[in-house]
Amino acid sequence: MSIYPQLRLRRTRKTQWRRRLVRETRLSVDDLIWPLIISDSTKSREAVPSMPGVERLSIAQCVKAAQKAKDLGIPALALFPNISDKFKDAAGAEALNPDGLVPQAIKAIKASVPDVGIIVDVALDPYTNHGHDGLLKDGEILNDASVEILAECAVMLADAGADIVAPSDMMDGRVGAIRSSLEEGGHKDTLILSYAAKYASGFYGPYRDAIGTATSLSGDKRSYQMDPGNRDEALREAGLDVEEGADMLMVKPGLPYLDIIRDLKQAFQMPTFAFQVSGEYAMIKAAGANGWLDEDRVKLESLQCFKRAGADGVLTYFAPEIAQLLAAQNR
Ligand code: PBG
Repeated sequence: MSIYPQLRLRRTRKTQWRRRLVRETRLSVDDLIWPLIISDSTKSREAVPSMPGVERLSIAQCVKAAQKAKDLGIPALALFPNISDKFKDAAGAEALNPDGLVPQAIKAIKASVPDVGIIVDVALDPYTNHGHDGLLKDGEILNDASVEILAECAVMLADAGADIVAPSDMMDGRVGAIRSSLEEGGHKDTLILSYAAKYASGFYGPYRDAIGTATSLSGDKRSYQMDPGNRDEALREAGLDVEEGADMLMVKPGLPYLDIIRDLKQAFQMPTFAFQVSGEYAMIKAAGANGWLDEDRVKLESLQCFKRAGADGVLTYFAPEIAQLLAAQNR
């Protein structure tokens, strides 16, 4: 065994070409999924104050963003709706409307930019007046009744042209129910990206501002989203989703949960994604704006760390900026 001074690990770090040669993981534009917030408001673009640089977009602006994604080489978008209060009710009925905001946006994007992948969230929170991901009755979130609606919703979204449905609700049994409904509905090629390990996290705050559920949410989501202290449970959750027919797994939030990404990738060898959520985005943006951090540098570093942990890709609001930074690096 060779030790110092025969072995000097600094030798491979000495110059840029040496570092490039021995770099173990690499971030590429292929790893990026760009989350977009679509809104049914009359404004075509509307800033989200807690997420500087992120805007709520009209359908027409979403189509433009899809074109931008294609031009930058970003493989896929993830759509999240901000629904006006007038379309919300206790049961989230609007989630099943085939002429609703999300199906309309999917069709508009597919009509003009057909070769960018479209991922859609499957959950009721944008549509319920209580802001929960499932049905609420006497203070309790109903599991099985919610799953039935989510399965129907997934088929409707696939009918509209969604390529990947991403159940983000954390109800038990939803992946299996969605898979059966998709099969019955003739959607054998629709992928399921399950939010396999989704934690009850404080890092979703700015997202709830963005989709307009921050003030309406009654109580919290701890009876269905996971406890931040649990690791074994993440493996059990993911194991069930794999058995029930998920094609891809997701861990959410991202950076504080790198160990979970690693665990899932090692245990299942499935395509595994991370969601660098709204709060993670906001922190980097805020520190960057104050000059406390070099924003571009930490953005790239944070994304590279997801790759090192084992993620195959990352949902990140930084996607277009990262794509541009990577293109500039390669020039
Ligand atoms: C809920 C959902 C959440 C996010 C996406 N879908 C969080 C939540 O309200 O529980 C969070 C995304 C982010 O913070 O960027 N179905």
